[in-house]
Amino acid sequence: MMIPDHVAIIMDGNGRWAEERGLKRSEGHSAGAKTLEKLAIHAKDLGIKVLSVYAFSTDNFKRSKEEVDYLMNLCILYFKNRFNEVINNNVKVVFSGRKENLRSDVLEAMETVMEKTKNNTDCILNICFNYGGQEEIVDASLKVAKDIKNGTLKETNLNRDNFYHYLYQDLPPIDLLIRTGKEHRLSGFMLYQATYAELYFVDTYFPSFNEDELDKAIQYYQTCDRRFGNVKTN
Ligand code: FPP
Repeated sequence: MMIPDHVAIIMDGNGRWAEERGLKRSEGHSAGAKTLEKLAIHAKDLGIKVLSVYAFSTDNFKRSKEEVDYLMNLCILYFKNRFNEVINNNVKVVFSGRKENLRSDVLEAMETVMEKTKNNTDCILNICFNYGGQEEIVDASLKVAKDIKNGTLKETNLNRDNFYHYLYQDLPPIDLLIRTGKEHRLSGFMLYQATYAELYFVDTYFPSFNEDELDKAIQYYQTCDRRFGNVKTN
């Protein structure tokens, strides 16, 4: 059966998962981080080449200082001291997003996990952090403009395939995009890469989105007739 090369997850519903259980929102984020670690290993075991996840959007800075600080500190904890399973399972961690506005200790933790996993080859875990899809396209356009100006790129050579090279990470297009937590929207997630993604929306809140739920999403993907704008040929 076809396993998608690139799966992306909008990890929504941490707060509601916690509230339903009478817990603090922060406990939902902490449970979500544990879920993410398990899913990354499972994705690798399934043969998925890239797993992209939406961990923090540029707009998430609008949340309370307390919640933003909690998420930043959780990331430091995971990137520095957890993720051992990820590191030992040949998963390479990379990041997409803007560096501006991130605390230096957060940037340092990101460096640590990237460095520890840089030679891992089975699967890439692309963590979108301080990420916005419109910002990514704007930032890519600025890099294109620079390359045209300095003569590295000829204007007429730019096309939709080599534009990927200017995005935060040069990854394949998304095959399957999952959003947990009941809402049906993209929230600016990987807009360029999601052009032909199959979309899978599930009510389950992210902390409860376990390995079986990922299997179900892939089973859905396997029923999709992917035509990429063409007509069915068989
Ligand atoms: C959306 O749920 C989730 C987030 C804004 C954060 C996602 C972060 C994680 C899953 C943890 C990531 C951890 C690491 C180590 C990368 P929400 O808070 O919007 O939930 P709600 O819609 O129910 O309020």
